[in-house]
Amino acid sequence: MKNILVTGGTGYIGSHGVVALIESGYTPIIVDNLSNSSKEVLENIQKITGIKPDFYEIDLRDYENLESVFQKYDFEAVLHFAWAKAVGESSEKPFYYYENNILGSLNLFELMEQYDCKKIIFSSSATVYDSIKSPPFVETDMTGNTTNPYGTTKFLIENILKDLVNHKSFQVVNLRYFNPVGAHKSWLIGENPNGIPNNLLPFIMKVVVGELPAVQVFWDDYETKDGTGERDYIHVLDLIDGHLKALNFIEKSQENTWFFEVFNLGTGSATSVKEMIQFTSEIIGREVLYSIKPRRTGDLPSSFCDPLKAEKVLGWKAQISIKEAIEDSYNFMKKR
Ligand code: NAD
Ligand code: UFG
Repeated sequence: MKNILVTGGTGYIGSHGVVALIESGYTPIIVDNLSNSSKEVLENIQKITGIKPDFYEIDLRDYENLESVFQKYDFEAVLHFAWAKAVGESSEKPFYYYENNILGSLNLFELMEQYDCKKIIFSSSATVYDSIKSPPFVETDMTGNTTNPYGTTKFLIENILKDLVNHKSFQVVNLRYFNPVGAHKSWLIGENPNGIPNNLLPFIMKVVVGELPAVQVFWDDYETKDGTGERDYIHVLDLIDGHLKALNFIEKSQENTWFFEVFNLGTGSATSVKEMIQFTSEIIGREVLYSIKPRRTGDLPSSFCDPLKAEKVLGWKAQISIKEAIEDSYNFMKKR
């Protein structure tokens, strides 16, 4: 069975990736410093799959300890999820974001080169697109002019990976996620950030379970269908299916080819904040309270993708509806 290194594998998206890898016959090995996750996730992965994956509590910035993992295993490929990801916090603590995300990634890439494992699937983000263009975003659109240090770290690492393709024969699938939501169908793993959530659906869920009083809607006078912000929400299980297809793409490619292949992972349609609140009310059978607040700095009115390249090249298309994703998040929140 092929060993896959999963950085950030106890996190929200990474844990779903680990489950899917096990179910597809791979052996995932997790490296995570638990800065935004907990060991409990490992028990839940075991409940779902029957297997407790090998786990190393290591910070990617710790080169020596990270190297000990490369010494122990022969890796077929790396799925690189580990990242500090709070957009707002990144403006308050830019140096932490540069150090954690860039230094951590550099250590990882250097060890990949040294131990001759050059296949990587990178978790990039819609935030790398230059907002001068209106959506839908296509893979060939301009990137850059990022509006926060989080986005800058994604943009910089995309460019460093391009260099490693050109000069060190890396094979890179660069996945630009739109807005991941939802939870595993067992409702044992999902997204439940500590403290007050930054993202919309986890915030709505905290209101639903009574931990927060009302949803704050960041502005209702955008030029969108109902004035509130629109996003391309994608179920985390669809997103992870995209990773399996990407892994297959890398594995099928010739050993002596190297590439930086970009794919958007989104549904191609946009849902507004008010629609998200309305759908949640319908699912739980009662009203979800909200109030209108000023615009959040750096927010785009609308962001959604053109997902056709992933369909044509990878044979991947999002299948799960936004309502089902909200239902899964709700069930996960009730069960946790
Ligand atoms: P998450 O915070 O749940 O998971 C990230 C994991 O990485 C956490 O378990 C954290 O403990 C770990 N980590 C952070 N820094 C580390 C370090 N230096 N060394 C070792 N481990 C470290 O986040 P997520 O939502 O699962 O995101 C996964 C990836 O997807 C990230 O790269 C993120 O930027 C990207 N992404 C997420 C979204 C989203 O909305 N969730 C959107 C676009 C892209
Ligand atoms: N929103 C609210 N109230 C909230 C939170 C969000 O009204 O409490 C609105 C925002 O203004 C926006 C929409 O809900 O219109 C979605 O906001 P999120 O914070 O959930 O998501 P973003 O699109 O701002 O950013 C997310 C991730 C980034 C990632 C990006 C693209 O946080 O890491 O998607 O993938 F880069």
